[in-house]
Amino acid sequence: MMIHPLLPELIRLQRRDRYLAPEALAELSRQLEIPVNRIISVASFYQAFRFKPCGKHQIKVCIGAACYVKGAEKLYDAFADYLKLAPGEDTSADGLFTLSKVACLGCCMLAVAVQIDRHIFGHVTPDDIPRILEEFLRMSSAEETSAAKAVAAQQPTAITVIIAFIRFSFSWGKPQFRL
Ligand code: FES
Repeated sequence: MMIHPLLPELIRLQRRDRYLAPEALAELSRQLEIPVNRIISVASFYQAFRFKPCGKHQIKVCIGAACYVKGAEKLYDAFADYLKLAPGEDTSADGLFTLSKVACLGCCMLAVAVQIDRHIFGHVTPDDIPRILEEFLRMSSAEETSAAKAVAAQQPTAITVIIAFIRFSFSWGKPQFRL
C-alpha cells in the first residue's frame, strides 16, 4: 500500500519548526501540487499539528483522573495566570513556554503531576509554580551548557588541524603501507 507523502511531510515540518509555518506550507503545496487550503484542512483534522509558533519549552499539566481530583484544572489556570496568557493563547509572550493539558502522565502517585519538557514535577500546587519554573530553567540551562561543551569537544581545534596538516605534509609521497 502506498502512503501519501502529505502526512509524513507535515510531521517533518512540525518537528522541524515546532508548528506548521505558512511559508513551509506554501513550499509543501508547490512540491506536492496540493492547494494550501487542502493541506490546512487535512492538518487541522489532527490535534498534533499547530498553526501558531510553539514556545521553547512545553509545560504539560496532567488532567487525568488522579490529578483532576487533586485540583489539576485549578493548577492549569494558575499556570495560565502566571504566564499571563491571553484568552485562547497557549504560549507566553516571550515565547519561552507553551502550556497544555494532557491525559495521564503515568505517575499518578505524584498527582498533581506536571511535565516540563522531559522533567516531571510531582505534587505541584499553584504556590509551587514560580519555584518549579525557576528550578526547571536552571536545569535546562545547565543541560544546554553541557550539550554545547560536548559539541565543542568534538570540534577540531585550530591546533589539532595544524598538527594534522603537518603530519599529512611529512607523510606526503611516502608509501602508506609496507609489505
Ligand atoms: S492522572 Fe495524572 S499522572 Fe496519572
